[in-house]
Amino acid sequence: MAETLDLMEAAVRPGVTTAELDAIAADVFRRHGARSAPMLDYDFPGTTCISVNEEAVHGIPGPRRIADGDLVKLDVTAELNGWYADACRTAFAGKPSGQAERLANVAREALDRALAIARAGTPLNEIGRVVESTVKTHGFAVCDALSGHGIGRRIHEPPDVLNYFDPDMGEPLVEGQVFTIEPIIAARDGEVVDAGDGWTVRTADGSLSAHSEHTIAVTTGAPIVLTA
Ligand code: CO
Repeated sequence: MAETLDLMEAAVRPGVTTAELDAIAADVFRRHGARSAPMLDYDFPGTTCISVNEEAVHGIPGPRRIADGDLVKLDVTAELNGWYADACRTAFAGKPSGQAERLANVAREALDRALAIARAGTPLNEIGRVVESTVKTHGFAVCDALSGHGIGRRIHEPPDVLNYFDPDMGEPLVEGQVFTIEPIIAARDGEVVDAGDGWTVRTADGSLSAHSEHTIAVTTGAPIVLTA
């Protein structure tokens, strides 16, 4: 996962197409005998999901050329020997705007803060509380229709790992539990809508979105970050 994301991120620059970025992932997967999880589970038309600027998640790789300053979310989910892992990074092409850079940093910070409290015994909804408060402190919003999820034998397994506090989801985390933490956030309003191509989800108001994600295994101490 990390190898795929490192290579893709290094290739993000003005002029590259999202299909070219996706081909990098396909190549790494082939070398390791891994398969694209969204393709396998959902017939997604790409190896990875690549979402640009106001696109929040599930962008389809294609002929679109990345422009200077674009925010490019590289969301990689792989299956190997029946096990799944999921991670996302937000990369910049060329020079991002100040807002774009802050937004990406806040998504990463929210993930880091959630990782810091994710251990056996922590109520699940504390993750959402930490993510939402981090994002709001910086004046941004979480896209609350989009969340992390359990993962293992499929991409999406219970529980939902919300990016906001839900009082009804205070179940304590247990050792060995595997799930994603993935703040998906927006510069203005967090509402999202279908972009109309059957897959892509974008912000309703057209504001920029950023996304940072790891798959973790819960322990009694710091989580094991399976996608690092
Ligand atoms: Co995910």
